[in-house]
Amino acid sequence: MEKTLTISYREYESMAELPEEDRNLMQHALGATESAYVPYSHFRVGAAIRLGDGTIVEGSNQENLAYPSGLCAERTAMFAASARYPEAAMEALAVVGVNPKGELTEAAPCGACRQVMAEYEGRQGRKMRILTYLEGGKIRVFDGVECLLPFIFQAEF
Ligand code: THU
Repeated sequence: MEKTLTISYREYESMAELPEEDRNLMQHALGATESAYVPYSHFRVGAAIRLGDGTIVEGSNQENLAYPSGLCAERTAMFAASARYPEAAMEALAVVGVNPKGELTEAAPCGACRQVMAEYEGRQGRKMRILTYLEGGKIRVFDGVECLLPFIFQAEF
């Protein structure tokens, strides 16, 4: 039997259209690109997480000569948030890229980052909104990681 999966998400024409707290979060993600350490790809990524109490935790991609040892901006931010505020829920995560030409661009979270989002959603028992900047300035908003990673790995140990 063939089945179809539908994924819904919201698209805003520009950052100006976002609700204020999400616009602010995206601004933080933009700011975070400045601390990216990207001597190999020259592709900066910034991520910002808003916790339940409004605290914002930023992260940026950190590269390494031994490539797999580096880390994406999203996981840098999530691990920092979890390490520093283990009791707090991650309400929303915004992400944006800056290409080697210095232009703002999309940085859709990679599969490993999506899996880590799923882990923290499970731990906190609530969804995390994910905001991604798109080339041209539009913003996509996903209401939880299931929209980005369907049929997710789940197991009981
Ligand atoms: N990268 C991120 O930090 N987040 C993403 O969503 C996609 C990719 C990083 C990894 C690497 O440092 C650089 O972008 C180029 O792949």
